[in-house]
Amino acid sequence: MDSLSSGLVADVLERLHQDAEAADAPLAQTFTNGASSREEIIGRMIEAESRDLKGLYHGFARNFLSVSPRLGRFLYMCVRSCKARRIVEFGSSMGVSAIYMAAALRDMGGGRLIGTDLEPGKIERARENVAAAGLADFVEFRLGDARETLKSGVGGDIDMVMLDGAFTLYLPILKLLEPHVKPGTLIVGENAFEEASGYIDYVRNPQNGYLSLSLPFNPGRGNELTVKT
Ligand SMILES: C[S@@+](CC[C@H](N)C(=O)[O-])C[C@H]1O[C@@H](n2cnc3c(N)ncnc32)[C@H](O)[C@@H]1O
Repeated sequence: MDSLSSGLVADVLERLHQDAEAADAPLAQTFTNGASSREEIIGRMIEAESRDLKGLYHGFARNFLSVSPRLGRFLYMCVRSCKARRIVEFGSSMGVSAIYMAAALRDMGGGRLIGTDLEPGKIERARENVAAAGLADFVEFRLGDARETLKSGVGGDIDMVMLDGAFTLYLPILKLLEPHVKPGTLIVGENAFEEASGYIDYVRNPQNGYLSLSLPFNPGRGNELTVKT
């Protein structure tokens, strides 16, 4: 049995992906405008984060920036295959990826997802969306900068991490969580660009205790799968 194929979760996700498409369509122009290469676009995004990270994401307060249905399905499958009980998500936005992962927790008998986002309005909508999908009992959203909200701990060892916030913070956030990362912990990085934060160099160096590779779908989007060895 899986909650993605039919029922309330599937219906809510279908609606949210439609809302996301409508809200985010104009955004595609913002960073690609006049850019001649993928590297140039990534460079612009990293530069914008370095200039004013909070201001940049505040500008996206009404945007979903959510995972694709394909990546969402992949997240669901990761949670199930590593039999996750505790998941941490950096960058929850309106809660779309959280719904995929929380649905898998419930389908496997329970667990907890701790998600965090900078934007109060997004956290509010993420709570509403997760509740609409009937998954509120499995999710805790923390409002604020993940460098602060995750500092107080997450209640124990983490089975899975989803990194989907500011690109330049993936390595600092991973290091913050490392005391709770154990052998077998899965880490999914969306937009884990080689150019940002040293994250890719770090997780692809086996001396740091990880094995890591880029995922074969959405090429160029920096989707990285990592396991703690
Ligand atoms: C790509 S979106 C996340 C999409 C979400 N994972 C989904 O698939 O539905 C990135 C989010 O990260 C949040 N963010 C960026 N920097 C952050 C930080 N330092 N702490 C917490 N959230 C942050 C932004 O506000 C934005 O909503």
